[in-house]
Amino acid sequence: MSKINAVITGVQGWVPEYRLTNDELSTMVDTSDEWIMQRIGIRERRILKGKGKGSAYMGARAVKGLLEKTNTSPDEIDLIIGTGATPDMMFPANANIIADMVGIKNGFGFDINAACSGFLYTLQTAAQFVESGRYKKVIVVGADKMSAITDYTDRTTCPLFGDAAAAVLLEPTEEDLGIIDHIFGVDGSGRHHLHMKAGGSLKPATHETVDAREHFIYQEGQAVFKFAVTKMADVSVEMMEKHQLTSENLAWLVPHQANMRIIEATARRMGLPKEKVMINIQRYGNTTTATIPMCLWEWEDQLKKGDNVILAAFGGGFTWGSLYMKWGYDGKA
Ligand code: UT7
Repeated sequence: MSKINAVITGVQGWVPEYRLTNDELSTMVDTSDEWIMQRIGIRERRILKGKGKGSAYMGARAVKGLLEKTNTSPDEIDLIIGTGATPDMMFPANANIIADMVGIKNGFGFDINAACSGFLYTLQTAAQFVESGRYKKVIVVGADKMSAITDYTDRTTCPLFGDAAAAVLLEPTEEDLGIIDHIFGVDGSGRHHLHMKAGGSLKPATHETVDAREHFIYQEGQAVFKFAVTKMADVSVEMMEKHQLTSENLAWLVPHQANMRIIEATARRMGLPKEKVMINIQRYGNTTTATIPMCLWEWEDQLKKGDNVILAAFGGGFTWGSLYMKWGYDGKA
């Protein structure tokens, strides 16, 4: 029997309507459209408004759309794996909540927490379930309501993040398509530069932690920047060399969208022209686990069966990785 590969057979994103522009941010903190465009490259980000809506609400919207467009019944789903830095609750996992919201009843589910590398880690994990031959339809959903943990009095972090969700369906194939290889890494000592100080078991919520604004993202931007530029490019170049990929035969780079300067530096190290790099950071900012599948969704029509694609991410942890896949189907364009 030939080897079973796991291939993406559908992708769907979802973003809230509200657009938080740089001009509006400039009324909240001491910043400007010019500074944000120059140093980060974000013009606006989407914000989920309304009580009683968390990241699972967005994730469920994406999964529902995915099931509809792929003509899949919720009953057929064997496994749903969620990922995100902002789950609805500490427990249970968002995967369980999303499964309930969309009517997935015959499978099981859990979450993976790897901050901005969450989508890559989760995709690889899901692929292994499919490659085992036992699981036929597996959903990966990245959903992050970053506005819930963003401090809108801190100008060094509040321009960066936005809210979104996106999901993919993975299925088995015996064709030479789908997820081929990954190079991942973690360095836990990096946690000191990017984390949320309180709310976990180490420092549960108290009046003091709320007063000290410790339930928001804490980031030392420059330390993260340096690490991100190096690691994301290192593993992506390594992946190219390992599989004899060049600027000609590599169709797309799908980078995590954290900072335009990091994306450009990575593409430069890989020798790729900008036309081969998926970039939508201007419109959504850093949506953590949703950035990469959001790009796949927005570029879906341009993707062709057999396209060589590298996904690259880095994030809190520190975590980083590069994943190589051959795209599974022709887009409409
Ligand atoms: O996916 C999660 C991983 N996170 C990231 O990838 C983020 C990585 N880091 C970055 O993208 C960048 O470090 C930032 C965008 C966060 C900051 O850019 P930077 O070029 O590293 O700026 P900086 O922190 O070195 O600050 C330069 C100056 C400072 O002023 P002084 O001390 O030179 O007077 C900051 O106070 O820019 C100031 N500054 C701002 N000015 C206007 C910082 N934030 C702002 C702002 N508006 N929003």
